[in-house]
Amino acid sequence: MVSSSNVIVRPARGVHGVVRIPGDKSISHRYAMLAAIAEGTSRFHNFSAARDCASTLDCVTKLGCEWTHSKDDEAIEVRGVGPRLRTPAEVLDCGNSGSTMRMLSGILAGQPFTSQLCGDESLSRRPMARIMTPLSEMGARIESTDGGRPPLKIHGGPLKAIHYKPEVASAQVKSCVLFAGLFAPGETVVEESIRTRDHGEIALRAFGAEVERKGNASRIFGGQQLHAIEAHVPGDLSSAAFFLCAAALFPGSQITLPGILMNPTRARLLDILLQMGLKVSVAHLEEHHGELIGTIEARGAAWKGAVISGAHTAALIDEIPALAAAAPYSEGGLEVRDAKELRVKESDRIAAVAANLRKMGAEVEERPDGMRIPGGQHLHGADLDSFGDHRIAMAFAVAALRAEGETTIQGADAAGVSYPLFFEELHTVTAD
Ligand code: S3P
Repeated sequence: MVSSSNVIVRPARGVHGVVRIPGDKSISHRYAMLAAIAEGTSRFHNFSAARDCASTLDCVTKLGCEWTHSKDDEAIEVRGVGPRLRTPAEVLDCGNSGSTMRMLSGILAGQPFTSQLCGDESLSRRPMARIMTPLSEMGARIESTDGGRPPLKIHGGPLKAIHYKPEVASAQVKSCVLFAGLFAPGETVVEESIRTRDHGEIALRAFGAEVERKGNASRIFGGQQLHAIEAHVPGDLSSAAFFLCAAALFPGSQITLPGILMNPTRARLLDILLQMGLKVSVAHLEEHHGELIGTIEARGAAWKGAVISGAHTAALIDEIPALAAAAPYSEGGLEVRDAKELRVKESDRIAAVAANLRKMGAEVEERPDGMRIPGGQHLHGADLDSFGDHRIAMAFAVAALRAEGETTIQGADAAGVSYPLFFEELHTVTAD
């Protein structure tokens, strides 16, 4: 049952069917931002329907860039204004979207005007020093509240190229600095200690910029002009994760997910699911503008345990809530280490996962930078909170499928931040 913000999820007996997952959020943000500063009109098929990406489109509109749905409604068209955006008359509202605020800041730092960015309650708590530090080093002046929290006021202007080594593994920070690098004469370098998703580099290349990746460093020369593209956005693997974890809970389940992003910097999820016992195969591999796409076929079989740590944690950061919610039903449980970043996502995801699992009667050990969830547990339905976090709302819909009795998820409309039709799709593939 779906009401405006509470959803009741009933136990299921299996997961069967085909789900067409909406366009990838990370790629959609980057395409929209780069299309805004490109010459010409870009056209994107399967652009993410997420509220977060609507926030990005809204911000670029306020910066003078118009966008529309194509006549057949199959795509969106973004009319680029070139590298010089329009001075915004209003504050740029990034909603719940950290990606919008952090990556757009890179572009705004290079503009000859002052802009202000704000966000909702959750975004207003999230750390921005990680982008303020490099952008200040490049020559922008950025004001914030409370030691680096939004709202931000960015006094843009001439930038200088830097060689930056981020302290946290973050693709948003990497993209932010590379986007700013477009406005800085000379070569800007981002050298990362842990490899993060490379959609920023791939999208920049798609729009015609030269970006070099050598070892752990991504390099870009300033002053390059971007040109409009027509592109298809692959289905979001992080959204697919909920259906894959749901299928993993029931031996004999069978799910097909066509057109999913298979970028190697994101596909660690498939490795861990395979390791935990889900039968996964990928067919129809294709490449679109440098991004790999494939059809995932998954079958539920055994469901074993796993330990996630180090670079694996960074590569799986968005999928850990789904894996954690499915973990009590596994044979060996799940241990997550080196995941301090989970505490500063849309919610404190370690605390949120632990609180909801405990309400369902599960045992869970919460640690400062991770958690341990024993396997072989029996959970019961409960009244849960999304904590205003899309991935928590969806993860616990998965946990609810194998619980005894029904589960209510309060604030389930948070799912729309990345996947507006999630609950409808889940209902379709879990109905008897
Ligand atoms: C994203 C990077 C990750 C991820 C977020 C999207 C991106 O954040 O959690 O959902 O599109 O670059 P961090 O860069 O903070 O790790």
